[in-house]
Amino acid sequence: MPRLRFAQLPTPLEEAANLSKYLGGPRILFKRDDLTASALGGNKVRKLEFILGRIVSEGYDTLIVPGGYQSNMARISAALANKLGLNVELVLGGAPEEAINNNGNLLLEHLLGANITYVNTVPRWDFGSALDDLKEKLQADGLKPYLLPLGGSSPEGMAGYVEATLELKEQCRLQSVKPDRLFVAIGSGGTYSGLLLGALNNDVGYEVTGISVSRTRDYLLEKVPENVDHGASLLDMKSFSASSRLSIYDEYIGDSYGAMTDECKEAIQLVAKTEGVFLDPVYSGKCMAGMIDLIQKGEVGRKETVIFLHTGGWPALFAYESDLIKTSAANVAKIA
Ligand SMILES: Cc1ncc(COP(=O)(O)O)c(C=O)c1O
Repeated sequence: MPRLRFAQLPTPLEEAANLSKYLGGPRILFKRDDLTASALGGNKVRKLEFILGRIVSEGYDTLIVPGGYQSNMARISAALANKLGLNVELVLGGAPEEAINNNGNLLLEHLLGANITYVNTVPRWDFGSALDDLKEKLQADGLKPYLLPLGGSSPEGMAGYVEATLELKEQCRLQSVKPDRLFVAIGSGGTYSGLLLGALNNDVGYEVTGISVSRTRDYLLEKVPENVDHGASLLDMKSFSASSRLSIYDEYIGDSYGAMTDECKEAIQLVAKTEGVFLDPVYSGKCMAGMIDLIQKGEVGRKETVIFLHTGGWPALFAYESDLIKTSAANVAKIA
């Protein structure tokens, strides 16, 4: 499969001993995919290595990227497309008033000089005909556009996380870590699906637990096995019975995708205070909030070894200033 190299790999696998001690176990490690480096890092860099590999090898000259106003995919795609000399068209959806907040990823996308079309979408991933209309217009202009699936969750995108599984397995061997569980945030589901496909094929010994930040568990229980089957056939791997291996929670979304929750705020503060690591307000913060809750409820055993995949996204923190600054550090003490 064609691949371009952008990420600095392997990303570190680090003990989060202070966090672990604060929570009274389990042993927690962070897999630092926030440090994939390109365009400020995050999980999308691994996906884009394979997606852009295909785009370049098939001669596309324009990338259409759908996403929310604070889309990390849009930031990273625009930056890597610039590097490759491709045109990039961002189609960003959400409530119109959100576009007024030009901070965070949106600021960076402006700096990258990306063409941005704003679409009033509810739910945020329903773009109506806007994407196809833009594609047709670009084709009429003589361009060869490639429409990225939302979140880059195509088999190429999944391949990035099948590869990441091999990287993690080797790190665990070298660092004598025997993980029971791997936690990851689920948005469009490609990262989780790639990790699951990687795990099913590589005898890793851990369960892949996904914390959804947008879609319902019922939707994902149907969608992820489809992704895994599709990815497995294109990547020439076995899909096994993915349905029986799903571990997915949707209780930590809050009011909606992107809406701050108290637990997310507290998780962001706690991890910054204990480990000096910045989570993001949309994905990794909610995933951490879910992981903490499952530890506190005893669903994750205190003696387990848990890896938290930090998928990046911290530039969005700057768009959430008013949500985040109100919470005092005293709230962190409520978690115990
Ligand atoms: C920071 C961050 N974490 C996690 C995810 C979720 O990845 P996926 O869409 O593959 O489920 C995203 C997707 O946008 C993201 O930007």
